[in-house]
Amino acid sequence: MLNFSFQNTTQIHFGEDQIKTIRKAIPKTAKVLVTYGGGSIKNNGVYDQVAQALSEHTWFEFSGIEPNPSYDTLMKSQAIIREHDIDFLLAVGGGSVVDGTKFIAAAAKFEGDDPWDFVAKGQPIKQALPIGCVLTLPATGSETNAGAVVTRDGNKLPFFSPLVRPLFAVLDPAVTLSLSDRQISNGVVDAFVHTMEQYLTYSVNGKVQDRFAEGLLLTLIEEGPKALAADSTDDLEVRGNIMWAATMALNGLIGAGVPQDWATHMIGHELTGAHGIDHARTLSIVLPAVMKVCTDAKREKLLQYAERIWNLTEGDDDTRINRAIELTEQFFETMQVPTRLSQVDLGEGDIDALIAKLTQHGMVKLGEHGVITPEVSREILVKAL
Ligand code: NZQ
Ligand code: ZN
Repeated sequence: MLNFSFQNTTQIHFGEDQIKTIRKAIPKTAKVLVTYGGGSIKNNGVYDQVAQALSEHTWFEFSGIEPNPSYDTLMKSQAIIREHDIDFLLAVGGGSVVDGTKFIAAAAKFEGDDPWDFVAKGQPIKQALPIGCVLTLPATGSETNAGAVVTRDGNKLPFFSPLVRPLFAVLDPAVTLSLSDRQISNGVVDAFVHTMEQYLTYSVNGKVQDRFAEGLLLTLIEEGPKALAADSTDDLEVRGNIMWAATMALNGLIGAGVPQDWATHMIGHELTGAHGIDHARTLSIVLPAVMKVCTDAKREKLLQYAERIWNLTEGDDDTRINRAIELTEQFFETMQVPTRLSQVDLGEGDIDALIAKLTQHGMVKLGEHGVITPEVSREILVKAL
């Protein structure tokens, strides 16, 4: 196992009716800005629950944070923050709202010329407003991690700072019942791929990390389809297991002390930046191609994955690996997400521009060995056609 330091400070309030805990979790003297997206929280009762819980607080709101939150939208919050002297942010929504709120929190305290510099130029974040969140879409893990992804002019880029990690996260599985099938699928697949990015690399004998990761993968494979099945769409236990799996998949735990890949995500971000494809749907297209192109580098872990996740013990190594990749694709198909670029109307002619963007963004040594150059990324995209 590799050396590591691990700390996750987010307090989690899990379960039905937990939104009311924010009353105590946010200081009474705080001036709160509630941030949210396009209005789903007004239709499913979450906004009302938040308003009720904040009835003794002074609070304002900022709405309209869109999926794949944009710099331009997020910067509009800054005037409200200054006007009302906001000192606490409450994000109510999915990963986009939580990520966008992380950007808002750091931008509000940024002292340079343009907050985009901490995204594009890696300028350190020295201060940020405190954040709490009410998660409505289990997927990204943003509710307890220190990362966020923001888009400006088609450039979708991640940034990280422990200062933007939420102080608390409310995880109420009941609020996910209003999700569309598309968003349920996206969430399950995103969490699955987060786990794979930290698991499917090379072995460092991290037995705890491996078995935690395998537990998450098995849970998502078992529960994901149930959340879409007609006879269990409103099963709160299914939703709860998916929600907790998604948080655990990217809260730092399974990635501590093991190598990590993230090539699928970085290539996927370019597909979203250039073509607006949902985040998870880029991952379901790219991951199988990464597994095929990087088979040699990932051989040992692919065999472990084949045996422990898909019970494949018969046949030679290549047969088991190929079958495991096939079953991964079948799982994605069951979750109703695409596994080929052609399914999202992209072809060979689109690859040059994607490679140019990866290069422009410095994504030229991806993967756990840093050997996924733009040429290898091209091979991966060709494999995904
Ligand atoms: O905007 P509203 O009206 O709220 O509707 C949203 C949005 O249209 C809707 N939704 C959310 N909760 C709902 C609901 N609809 C009905 N009922 C509910 N309970 O779902 C739509 C998609 O929401 P979004 O927040 O965009 O989805 P997701 O949680 O998948 O977040 C995706 C974003 O997170 C980033 C992605 O790149 C993408 O920008 N990621 C963030 C990560 C992180 N911070 O660690 C890691 C991930 O890999 C990912 O990159
Ligand atoms: Zn993701």
